[in-house]
Amino acid sequence: MAGKIPRQFIDDILARIDIVDLIDGRIGLKKAGKDYQACCPFHNEKSPSFTVSRDKQFYHCFGCGANGNAISFVMEYDKLEFVDAIEELAAILNLDVPREQGTGAPQRTQEQRRSDYELMQQAANFYQQQLRQHPQGAQVIEYIKGRGLSGETAKRFQIGFAPPEWDVLYKQLGRNNELQQQLVDLKLATENQSGRRFDFFRDRLMFPIRDKRGRVIAFGGRVMQKDQSPKYLNSPETRIFHKGFELYGLYEAKQAHAKLQQVLIVEGYMDVVALAEQGIDYAVAALGTATTAEHMHSLFRLTDTVICCYDGDRAGKDAAWRALEHALPYLTNGKSLQFVFLPDGEDPDSLVQKEGKAVFEARLQQADDYTQVLFQKLTEQIDITTDAGKSKLMAEALPLIDKVPSDFYQDSLLDLLARFIGKTREQLSKKLTSPKQQNSIERKFKVTPMRQAIGLLIQHPQLAQAVDYLPELAEMAIPGIALFLQLQQLCLAQPTANTAQLIEFFRDSKEYEVLKKLAGWPHNIRDEALEKQFQQTFQFIEDQCLNLHLETLLIKEKTEGLSSEERQEVVLLTTALKSRRSSQN
Ligand code: UTP
Ligand code: MN
Repeated sequence: MAGKIPRQFIDDILARIDIVDLIDGRIGLKKAGKDYQACCPFHNEKSPSFTVSRDKQFYHCFGCGANGNAISFVMEYDKLEFVDAIEELAAILNLDVPREQGTGAPQRTQEQRRSDYELMQQAANFYQQQLRQHPQGAQVIEYIKGRGLSGETAKRFQIGFAPPEWDVLYKQLGRNNELQQQLVDLKLATENQSGRRFDFFRDRLMFPIRDKRGRVIAFGGRVMQKDQSPKYLNSPETRIFHKGFELYGLYEAKQAHAKLQQVLIVEGYMDVVALAEQGIDYAVAALGTATTAEHMHSLFRLTDTVICCYDGDRAGKDAAWRALEHALPYLTNGKSLQFVFLPDGEDPDSLVQKEGKAVFEARLQQADDYTQVLFQKLTEQIDITTDAGKSKLMAEALPLIDKVPSDFYQDSLLDLLARFIGKTREQLSKKLTSPKQQNSIERKFKVTPMRQAIGLLIQHPQLAQAVDYLPELAEMAIPGIALFLQLQQLCLAQPTANTAQLIEFFRDSKEYEVLKKLAGWPHNIRDEALEKQFQQTFQFIEDQCLNLHLETLLIKEKTEGLSSEERQEVVLLTTALKSRRSSQN
């Protein structure tokens, strides 16, 4: 695995990219006063409430609340993970993404990687051309049609044909030594013991596997005659292909939907393609492996509902269980995980062709919730009429329930468990190691003075110099003061940082969401009045801090008495507060 991306590089990207150009290039923006506007790409609307600010390098939608910097936009709009978003922005700026040292393999440059992706795409094009050019092409097209696929779907998935000859691809694409080695590295060609090189895929129907950005990274190839084996041959892992992270069909599903309401996980390439043919264009398949935690993580970032579709047999149940275990840590409020088990001998491909879209989707409507699957599995081999059985069930269920981040789901699971073993939810919840505090309904957002100060500062970082920097205020138990000081310190240390760069600093902290909101909060204060307003707000907070400190001392005076120093402090605080009040009036 590559090392971490240095923070300095991320900061550079945000300093160099222009969010207005970036977003204009994707959705088109119109100038409106100082800012730019468009209809929001993240929700449906008729009049534009999506605003982009060049000063702040920040976007905000007043309709749905979507907001963030250039990195967030690329993550949300292109549906990319953080690292992929950085790579995308770096590519626009023609920069190589550096990695921190000390983690394994030698660095490959962006250039080398780009050429790997290009070669893979050339291979996909080659296999597609063979459908038309190879003498056996017509037969293969018949096979594709016989499997119920239209030319359009075959094209959408770039399905192709690897010819039966030994080394057509190798000869055509391996024009020099370097390219020949690259073909071997990417496992498109193999070397036998005598050193002879030949095509890895021969006489197979080819399914290109694309990553989230649509780049071809591997292939799956199916035999077309019965009783040849293996039925599918898949690209082994390479420097650009890591099986456990990729899902077949995910790119195509993202392309088909601005927002994926649900994603269906199925087992095979043919299932994904056949479902798409019938209009169910939101299915993905793990690549001949079990569903991994990484799969679940990427899916739940893209959608709220994941439906796993497996055979009804033992193997299907086992697959479901593994998927479930991996999904538990991603079940935050609003996410849903469901399971559909298919009748004997059927797979989604055969079923959807038999019964059509509507009937198949009705099956999805009746999917089992994960809670059912979880308790079915846990109680399968336990006799819950005995205390021994009950205690075993409790011991096995609690660690799983503990993994679920949603307090709502945790409560329902505890309720179910409680019913099985004759205890109450409260008794059980005490046994969890990490009770969750996640808010299911976001409270209405109020702009308190503290939030106003933080909001003004993050929107106008130069204000940091307009008031004193008083780190000692951090000791006061006033909500938000620590964040304010941290932000002020950042602004002072990096006087040229813009809103986008400041926000980025907090991406992984719990304050990120509130900071993004404040960065997009319309404060309606004129430019000339900003500094004055900020100073007044800050003074209000400072007073609050001093008052709090005074009250604490006065309480202490009554309870345990004060030292002479503390008594002096009380006098100073009282006079300071009085004089401040009179100067404000
Ligand atoms: P299936 O045997 O269910 O194949 O394997 P399928 O997708 O339904 O294909 P058709 O309908 O027979 O054409 C499911 C998945 O398991 C992996 C492949 O990813 C396949 O899509 N698999 C299967 C292999 O990797 N190798 C094999 O030999 C068989
Ligand atoms: Mn099948």
